[in-house]
Amino acid sequence: NFITQITHRISFTFSIGYRHQQTTAKRVEEVEFDGPCMKTEVPGPRSKILAQQLEAIQSVVQVNFFCDYEESKGNYLVDVDGNRMLDVYTQIASIPIGGYSILYDPELFLGTFVNRPALGMMPPEQFSEKLVNGLMAVAPKGFSRVQTMACGSCSNENAYKAIFIWYRVRGQQFLSLVFSFFFQVPGCPDLTLLSFMGGFHGRTLGCLATTHTKAIQKLDVPSFDWPIAPFPQLRYPLGQFERENAQEEARCLEEVEDLIVKWNQKGRHVAGVVIEPIQAEGGDNHASFDFYRKLRGITKKHGCAFLVDEVQTGGGSTGKFWAHEHWGLDDPADIVSFSKKMLTGGYYQKNSFQPDKPFRIFNTWLGDHTKNLLLTEVIKVIKTENLLDQAKRSGKVILEGLYNLQDKYPHLLSRARGIGTFCAIDVKDEDTRNNLILKARNKGVVLGGCGTQSIRFRPALVFTEHHAHLFLDIFNDAIAELK
Ligand SMILES: Cc1ncc(COP(=O)(O)O)c(C=O)c1O
Repeated sequence: NFITQITHRISFTFSIGYRHQQTTAKRVEEVEFDGPCMKTEVPGPRSKILAQQLEAIQSVVQVNFFCDYEESKGNYLVDVDGNRMLDVYTQIASIPIGGYSILYDPELFLGTFVNRPALGMMPPEQFSEKLVNGLMAVAPKGFSRVQTMACGSCSNENAYKAIFIWYRVRGQQFLSLVFSFFFQVPGCPDLTLLSFMGGFHGRTLGCLATTHTKAIQKLDVPSFDWPIAPFPQLRYPLGQFERENAQEEARCLEEVEDLIVKWNQKGRHVAGVVIEPIQAEGGDNHASFDFYRKLRGITKKHGCAFLVDEVQTGGGSTGKFWAHEHWGLDDPADIVSFSKKMLTGGYYQKNSFQPDKPFRIFNTWLGDHTKNLLLTEVIKVIKTENLLDQAKRSGKVILEGLYNLQDKYPHLLSRARGIGTFCAIDVKDEDTRNNLILKARNKGVVLGGCGTQSIRFRPALVFTEHHAHLFLDIFNDAIAELK
């Protein structure tokens, strides 16, 4: 099977001051378990004690359970109570090739903590070489520049700024610094960015103005008044609703164009459009590749920048390194943002989006160089082990399994959908969805929800057909218990 075929070794080399360290991570087949093993309900007693301790200094409302990362290996997450669970959630879709133990190599962590250069001002000698062999080696077609950042929100936030700067600077003079100092026009223009209902682009102030998933995320926070377009609500199974879905997409595209024209007319120009290739947090909402191709055409026609947010979809789980590569366009975007599986945040940008003056897009670290080093190794593994093909194969098993389950439980499950392993299914209501996630967890499978009633599947790229079958069996058992 796939696991025993893997023979790669990942070598990491770090310069720490004058020292040079070499550490070799364990081979994947040495660290794989043969299945989940549950000892307590989750969260277990140890998790609860730790949560009480943490509560003294931090909110713990988001804490599910505490993990023992040294014991966690391959596709399995072990909690502090010794429960070993097959991980189909991977820290909210952020682990590319599994193997928690690799992340917890103590020597690596030493490197991570003691050496974090300010990349914008004092980059290390190998900085560009590592970017070339890492991020640029997987750059989407047409991109020759990359800007690293820390997280997904930070990447989008800065990408938005890059768009506004581009919109003003193209062919124009560098506008009044004095006015901008007092946040007034023309220095600070009243430009806007169009986003979609159901989209999620982060929780920082600028990003939040384009995030439209749950009201709680926006509560009490002032926001920009920017145009919001409807995202197609496709009906499933797709084959049965071709005409209705095409009409729905045409309606949304028409609305996008109307909004751009109207907002331009009232002097609040739409500088850019931001969209995810699959609305992930919003409920794994898909649109056809044709929808995206037409949307790209509209942005070109009206001179808006096109920003594709691949924070959740990027990194290979759809079977292509970038989900938007499925659309089949030579020039699909002006900016592509990423984070999560890419280990570092950041965005690819067309040359014209690089600001013309220093310190316009800037922060202290601009990402984390050790993540760039790790990513270079991760990309090598993805390529040598053909993990994109693996994602296609495992995804096929997951999706077929989900189709079978929705046929078997039509009153409970519907709208199975996905590309590669980036799959989801809807449960009849929110409570039942949450209950199902808990049941699966107590049987040893970690899952996550999205939207109001969907379950999303976000395994790592080393998730094989074997893991997919194992997952489906356990998921089936959990569903059977719901009845
Ligand atoms: C599509 C998308 N964009 C942006 C973000 C924000 O990323 P972060 O949580 O790293 O700020 C997320 C996070 O889930 C996301 O899914």
